Formats: sequence, C-alpha cells, structure tokens
Amino acid sequence: MRLRNIPGAKEIIRTSEYVVQNPEARKGLWAAVFPKRQPLHIEVGMGKGRFLMDMAALHPDRNYVGIEMYDSVLLRAIQKRESREEEKERLSNLLFLCVDARNLPEIFDRGEVDRVYLNFSDPWPKARHAKRRLTSCEFLKRYEKILSPGGCVEFKTDNRQLFEFSLEEIERAGWELLEKTYDLHREASMMAGNVMTEYEEKFSQMGNPIYKLTARKK
Ligand SMILES: C[S@@+](CC[C@H](N)C(=O)[O-])C[C@H]1O[C@@H](n2cnc3c(N)ncnc32)[C@H](O)[C@@H]1O
Repeated sequence: MRLRNIPGAKEIIRTSEYVVQNPEARKGLWAAVFPKRQPLHIEVGMGKGRFLMDMAALHPDRNYVGIEMYDSVLLRAIQKRESREEEKERLSNLLFLCVDARNLPEIFDRGEVDRVYLNFSDPWPKARHAKRRLTSCEFLKRYEKILSPGGCVEFKTDNRQLFEFSLEEIERAGWELLEKTYDLHREASMMAGNVMTEYEEKFSQMGNPIYKLTARKK
C-alpha cells in the first residue's frame, strides 16, 4: 500500500504523541516506554492500523507497536486513532513507528518482542525482489534477533504464491511450523480470537480464502 504523498504528513508524524521518534534510542528499553511492563507484540506493515487498534483495545494486558514505512499510510493510522480516541477509546498500550522493518534489530533488543504479526504483506512477485518479502529468510533472521524464546510469527494473506513461498522459507530458515490453514474463516479452531485487518475484510468479502500460518524458531 502506498498512498499519494500527503503534504504535512511528515510534520504530523514528527509531532504525534502516538509515534516514537528515534526508536533506535529505545533498544532494550521498550518495557519502560509503556505505562505497564507486559508482553510486547508488533505488527510489521501495519497499514492504516485497524488490526492493531482492535487488538490493543481487546488485550490491555499486552503492549503493541505498529510499524509502517510510508508517511502517507501512517498518517491514516494516526487520523483513525485520533477519531477513535475522541470516542473515549484511550489505547495507552499502543505506539507507532515510521521505519523500514529492515531496521528491526537496531530498534529492538534480543528477546524484547514476544510476537510478530504480518498481515497481508506486499507480495513482491518478481523473483529479484524476493528478499523484500516480509516472510523471506532475510526477514526471518531479523525476527530471530528480536523475538523472545518461543516467540512466534503469525502471518495472514490471501496470496497463495506468497503463502507457499513463506512455508518454504520457514523450513529453509530452520523454523518450526506450528499451525497453518488454507481457509482461516472456515477453520473454527484457528478463527477463535481472530481480529480482521482492513485487507482481510476486503479480500474475504470478495470470496478469497484467507491463508494463515504460525511459526517459531526451533
Ligand atoms: C498490503 S498492506 C497491508 C496492511 C495491513 N497489515 C492490513 O492487513 O490491512 C502492507 C503494508 O506493509 C507496509 N510495508 C511493506 N514493507 C514494509 C517494511 N519493510 N517496513 C515497514 N512497512 C512495510 C506497506 O507500506 C503497506 O502499508
């Protein structure tokens, strides 16, 4: 997702109370950034942020960080959060970062993150761009550097090729596949507690099956 450049977006992001500036300075200190010390879950490629705002509201006993690299998209998440907070929904357990996820190991210390969510990640269909896919071995190595022991990656997509690629990469990287489904919305056990993302709603309404896997480093 890349929206048209929006004038003023950078300044709004720079001054937003929801966005952590210079996140590399918080490496190893994330527990103290939030009001409560509790498990930290992150979404990489958050888009407009609906999933993470719903998760933060549903699970006040966890801290959440949403990561989005494009200003124009993060701006939409900030605006959405502002309007939700006007309706008295205060999410003190959720922060946003405007960074490229390639920098995750510079931002989070070893073991600092308990779960990584990847939702409807960009497919990057050309073979020469495979390393940009958020489920590539290159990215799995980055997650390994920040996840706590037993910490998982959860990945949802409607893109069959990207899903198959991800299953192969998980094996190649020496990760353990904990669960997978080729039709999440018809699989009651994996649907329990499912929170829909913007893309998930759109693609499932079009009749596309939603694929999901959960994996962790062996
Ligand atoms: C297709 S959208 C999905 C948005 C949302 N997760 C959903 O399911 O509705 C993928 C998002 O990931 C972001 N993204 C892709 N690669 C990224 C990276 N390396 N670092 C941070 N964000 C990234 C894109 O800018 C885009 O907004």
